[in-house]
Amino acid sequence: VYARAPEGDDLVDALRAARRDRGLAVLEGFHAVKHAVRFGARLVDLVVADPAGLAALGAALAPDVAPALAALARPVDPALLARALPAAPRTGVVGVAERPAVDARAVLAGAGPAPVVLLEDPRHLGNLGACVRVAAAAGAAGVLTTGDRDPWAPEALRGAAGLHFALPVARVGAPDPGGRPLVALDPAGAPLGPGGLPARAVLAFGTERAGLSPALLARADARVALPMRAGVSSLNLATAVAAALYAGAGTLRG
Ligand SMILES: C[S@@+](CC[C@H](N)C(=O)[O-])C[C@H]1O[C@@H](n2cnc3c(N)ncnc32)[C@H](O)[C@@H]1O
Repeated sequence: VYARAPEGDDLVDALRAARRDRGLAVLEGFHAVKHAVRFGARLVDLVVADPAGLAALGAALAPDVAPALAALARPVDPALLARALPAAPRTGVVGVAERPAVDARAVLAGAGPAPVVLLEDPRHLGNLGACVRVAAAAGAAGVLTTGDRDPWAPEALRGAAGLHFALPVARVGAPDPGGRPLVALDPAGAPLGPGGLPARAVLAFGTERAGLSPALLARADARVALPMRAGVSSLNLATAVAAALYAGAGTLRG
């Protein structure tokens, strides 16, 4: 529960609590707030350290949502944001939204050829957010994660520039492909060519240090690699997701 328009020390406490609240999404920075509102987020608060700066950013970068942002925004002392957040955004724009309910089984059962991105135990929240961002951009059907990291954590929302609101994002207990082809992205797999992934695939990506688990690799219908120059061990997780979606899945082909 987020108090209505908290001020002063109450705002500091409310934002700190909201960052840990699994029912809320704390959006740090103009771009995160912009995308969230554009894709239907319900904001419960929008605080701005620089109202004139928000108006200028809205006019320049997001005229579609600028009136909605202006109507919701309330000015606050920048010192409060500096106290409330580990790294206050340079734009001084911070939103708090309700997280949407996401049904992972419905994501997997959804119609259409778009792939689902499955991240096995991602550790770095900024990296996780970058995966959500490219999945949203490339038209993936959703992003599912396993492991203990919260994919809606503020650091992940920041890495995704708020694009969690553009597609379903959820943590799941087990990596069940729900009847879709399960494709393991693995540097030791068979070389992947352009458009070489099946429609409706669950594309599984491994944890940053160790890669995919033996259990997931054993279960996969195929193991594919993004070809790399000799001597390069692997791609960064989010760049691997980007390359697979754009080159292999071809999600944006007409
Ligand atoms: C940083 S990598 C993990 C590196 C790990 N040592 C390994 O060998 O898989 C994180 C994930 O990105 C994906 N990835 C990175 N480079 C890849 C490549 N060249 N081909 C396919 N997947 C790749 C894999 O899913 C991998 O588990």
